[in-house]
Amino acid sequence: MTSGAAIRRARPADLDRIEALERECFGTVDGAFSRRQLRRLLANPRARWMLAADGQAVACWLTAGNGRARWLRLYSLAVHPGLRGQGWGKRLLSSGLAWGRTQGFSACRAEVRASNHGARRLYEQFGFREAGRLPDYYGRGIDGVRLALDLRRARPAAGPRAETNSRVRR
Ligand SMILES: CC(C)(COP(=O)(O)OP(=O)(O)OC[C@H]1O[C@@H](n2cnc3c(N)ncnc32)[C@H](O)[C@@H]1OP(=O)(O)O)[C@@H](O)C(=O)NCCC(=O)NCCS
Repeated sequence: MTSGAAIRRARPADLDRIEALERECFGTVDGAFSRRQLRRLLANPRARWMLAADGQAVACWLTAGNGRARWLRLYSLAVHPGLRGQGWGKRLLSSGLAWGRTQGFSACRAEVRASNHGARRLYEQFGFREAGRLPDYYGRGIDGVRLALDLRRARPAAGPRAETNSRVRR
């Protein structure tokens, strides 16, 4: 599998496959986006969607700010359970962050469930650092963590083995 090459920008026409992946990854009650929310997000000019593996892995980045203060927010990242552990999460992060750097964004932010150790480890590999606790962020008793990455200083992560390229609401 080559890195990066299989990742493309998602379009409104990808709504069905993204909705299916959302359901597969987050179910219907665990904060998954509704179809309506996804349609709006896909049409949002401040959202950049990246799709990989024929719709089996997706990332959504929101852009914010203007002038000199411009930052990215990793809004969603999901890999189909059957494709996890194969480097798709890393590739999507690498692609989005590389794009953000070329666009001059100075920082990236993300939120993740405090208990989501797999995702936290992934973000740490890319240099994200904890920037605050978010009590009850995902519901009563379900804390979140705010993460931040300085895009001007941080080096890209090493990437998946032997491949050098390599709410958020959950
Ligand atoms: C988190 C998620 C995106 C990772 O995707 P993935 O394609 O499996 O990740 P990769 O194969 O690229 O793994 C990259 C790194 O993530 C970390 N990681 C991923 N899953 C992990 C797990 N279950 N346990 C521990 N570390 C894990 C590891 O550090 C791994 O690097 P390594 O293999 O060199 O140790 C995926 O598990 C997923 O979609 N989860 C459900 C949705 C979610 O939690 N999204 C993130 C918050 S929005």
